[in-house]
Amino acid sequence: MQELRVSSDTSAFEVPAVLDAQRRLTGDCTARALAMMDTHGLVVLTGLLSEAEADFGLELTRRTIEDPDRSHSTFASETDNSYKRRDFCSLPANAEVNGFAAMLAQRLEGIYREFCGLSRPVLEVATFTSYLGSSHQYIHRDPAGVISLFAALEDVSQAQGGTVFVPGTHLYGGMENTHGGQARALMELFRILCNARIFRHNLTKLRAMRGSTATPLAPGEFRDRVFSTKWDQHQPNLLRFLTGKNAQFSLRNLTPGTLWKLYRNRDELTRLFALVQAAPRKGSVILYRSDLMHAGPDNRSPQPRRFFGMSIARDMIERKYWHDGYSPHPTLQANPLTLGDLLEMPPAPVQAAPQQECALAG
Ligand SMILES: [Fe+2]
Repeated sequence: MQELRVSSDTSAFEVPAVLDAQRRLTGDCTARALAMMDTHGLVVLTGLLSEAEADFGLELTRRTIEDPDRSHSTFASETDNSYKRRDFCSLPANAEVNGFAAMLAQRLEGIYREFCGLSRPVLEVATFTSYLGSSHQYIHRDPAGVISLFAALEDVSQAQGGTVFVPGTHLYGGMENTHGGQARALMELFRILCNARIFRHNLTKLRAMRGSTATPLAPGEFRDRVFSTKWDQHQPNLLRFLTGKNAQFSLRNLTPGTLWKLYRNRDELTRLFALVQAAPRKGSVILYRSDLMHAGPDNRSPQPRRFFGMSIARDMIERKYWHDGYSPHPTLQANPLTLGDLLEMPPAPVQAAPQQECALAG
């Protein structure tokens, strides 16, 4: 996005995955990944999955995406979902999907055990697809107390809209005392600054899509994305913006006092915080603390952007609040899984690609 400065350099948050003979992350690699998550709130584990493993996962997600009876997620932009700009849906808790989730959990066991107890629930296993013309989500935090995972099952380019993060904005004990005791306030100011630009970007884009032959709007789509009063946290709906009903960004966020603080702290905000967009290669896995500020950008390419996602609780989580941010498949609700279950379950029987064997630790 032109108005928003976003770095595409994620090298400071990457750890190349090194596996042991049991195909689990080595102790050294686990320690490096944990340090990254503590410091920045996220880690990008490059090359965690072999080609064959990523292909296996991609086939599982394809099957769900092609299923007319798939179970849509309810928390993202429902308007984008309804106009096929996004397709966020949960995967059924069948043997293959559970096996793939188990393979990931077991490979990352050292990290998961550090954050999550064995009895903590798997909140969702899902696939997140964005198509050309989707809205750029507002910068937000997911419900706290969760470790979320995105796996790139194919290469994701910048234009396809790899996730944007604001490293270092995760919430932890004593965080309030950082940045001269102003951490919370400064993070919120930065979020407002970004979201004002995202609001403008989404409106400008929708105006350009009117009459566009490359990205035509569906009948009623402009009205539903700009003038509807329906609940949707990630559209630039003007009425919800003006009446302060969008919890992510609205006129309420732009009081004279806030505008003055934004002006007064403009240099400090740029010095302290930055937006970083991941464009992970096939087989890379991103782990992040759910309270880290982030957003799913718009897909600006004709190629659909797909991610596999899995979220596991770190703490007890109030059920209604859980469903605000995560959409477990009905089969997962009927047969709940915990981290302990995933660690004991037989993993998906996928052959490792020969070239990855050389990355194994001795
Ligand atoms: Fe999110």
